[in-house]
Amino acid sequence: MPVIAVINQKGGSSKSTTAVHLIAWLHRQGAQCLLIDADGQRTSSIWLESLGQNIESKVIQDPDALLDALPKLADEYQWIVIDGPANLSEATRAAILWADLAAVPCQPTGVDLASAGDTVRLIKQAQKIRGGLPQAALFLARAVKGTRLKGEASEVLGAIPETRLLSTIIHQRQIVADAFGQGATVFSMTGSPAGIAAREYAELFKEMMELLKDA
Ligand SMILES: Nc1ncnc2c1ncn2[C@@H]1O[C@H](COP(=O)(O)OP(=O)(O)O)[C@@H](O)[C@H]1O
Ligand SMILES: [Mg+2]
Repeated sequence: MPVIAVINQKGGSSKSTTAVHLIAWLHRQGAQCLLIDADGQRTSSIWLESLGQNIESKVIQDPDALLDALPKLADEYQWIVIDGPANLSEATRAAILWADLAAVPCQPTGVDLASAGDTVRLIKQAQKIRGGLPQAALFLARAVKGTRLKGEASEVLGAIPETRLLSTIIHQRQIVADAFGQGATVFSMTGSPAGIAAREYAELFKEMMELLKDA
């Protein structure tokens, strides 16, 4: 039933990586889930196919098709994760109009923080019409360990009203960058770097689940 849309107009902010890891994490818990790839680059649907885990995906980029399909699909699947495009197009709006949770990954740099602001503005428009939905969950992704920007970014994002800044920070890690090429997720990779990254993602996703539970 719940629909989670991973959105941010900025390319490279980690939307597809988050969407694929989230759907793989939900799938591991036995949930019947569907990934909707709304991005023309098709990163997440190609990635998902390469996992060989039979996790279902559909490519739907057309905003009208997305608006039409989502309510029916939301009835059919326990979880739907939408991987958003790298712009604030109508497809992004359509996703926000049906999502229970809008997850916004944001790199801790000035440019990225500004673009997250635009994304949040769009979410707030939907919240006004839909009586508070979707919930907005911002989180820092691709944060480089030991940099000062992280703290500053947390302050900026944490101060945005009607949105939640998740406390888990996803760090920039080689193992995560390698996952796509290896047809894997950090959940399916072995070794300690994969384990550390997997724990980070699991923490993040548990926070999202808590938000949905409280709704
Ligand atoms: N936590 C991370 N650590 C290292 N590299 C990452 C991480 N998250 C994403 N990347 C890399 O950053 C690039 C952009 O990520 P992607 O998920 O495709 O972003 P988007 O879908 O927002 O454009 C990809 O090369 C991906 O492998
Ligand atoms: Mg992408």
